[in-house]
Amino acid sequence: MEEDGKVKVCKTIKEVRKAVAGARAGGAKVGIVPTMGALHEGHMSLVRRSVADNGATIVSIFVNPTQFGPAEDLGKYPRPFEADCRACEAAGVTIVFAPEAAEMYGKDFSTYVEETKLSKGLCGASRPGHFRGVTTVVAKLFNIVGPDRAYFGQKDAQQAAVIKRMARDLDMGVEIVVMPIVREADGLAMSSRNAYLSAREREEAILLSRGLAEAERLFEGGERRAAALVEAVRKTIAQAPDAKVDYIEAVDAETLERVEMIRGRTLLAVAVFVGKTRLIDNAVLEP
Ligand code: PAJ
Repeated sequence: MEEDGKVKVCKTIKEVRKAVAGARAGGAKVGIVPTMGALHEGHMSLVRRSVADNGATIVSIFVNPTQFGPAEDLGKYPRPFEADCRACEAAGVTIVFAPEAAEMYGKDFSTYVEETKLSKGLCGASRPGHFRGVTTVVAKLFNIVGPDRAYFGQKDAQQAAVIKRMARDLDMGVEIVVMPIVREADGLAMSSRNAYLSAREREEAILLSRGLAEAERLFEGGERRAAALVEAVRKTIAQAPDAKVDYIEAVDAETLERVEMIRGRTLLAVAVFVGKTRLIDNAVLEP
């Protein structure tokens, strides 16, 4: 910010508030891209869109402890901070906000934001408390930065739906922009967690997107029964010896309620453990 094209890194809430106020001074719109870092092309697609849409873009890099379960990968989550900052700078980001956990959650922190409907099924069922952690940290980021727009990926379709609902219900005045899933050349949805996969697991992981593609093919051919589409995904994923399905579900894309027949915009969503790594992916079916 001080020098043109140089990204400003803020570690404290006070610093970032001041930097955002400076960036906004000329009347610039402010976009935020909340992330947990280990930035890849999926994240960068959101960053580029925000940089294109807004006068100032804030990227938050924060591995949020409240959204991890006790047995999850908080400790080993990748944190290549220097590379992330360079990627942000190259993309024209104004501010990187990278607080420590203690900055975001004081010792006697006791207030949470919870969406009570959309967050209960799918990933919410197998990761209790996860979405409460997500909505809490995103609400905090919105309160700290006061963005005009916030960018999320369709990769985490349930998360995007929950955050849209939170922003609407709590009148946050932030426009939520959802961007398409960015994939590797072979179809695997990009994820910071892909780095955990062994070579063999990486091969097997392709079967998630392949299963969804198979279901999409059946859907294009006229299949409208959710059970048949789910079964097509299940059969494809069953080819992977190290894969254990958490869920495969067809749900209404807005309400996230399970459907039996595909009549409106439907989310076909999967979560699969490949070895110890939990991967998610989805496809939207539109009759
Ligand atoms: P993280 O997993 O780092 O993802 C940050 C954003 O990037 C999310 O909106 C996610 O949907 C998006 N994203 C990840 N992979 C993508 C891909 N392959 N294509 C498109 N978008 C992709 O999601 C979180 O962090 C956290 O829950 C967070 C919202 C930051 C709250 O802590």
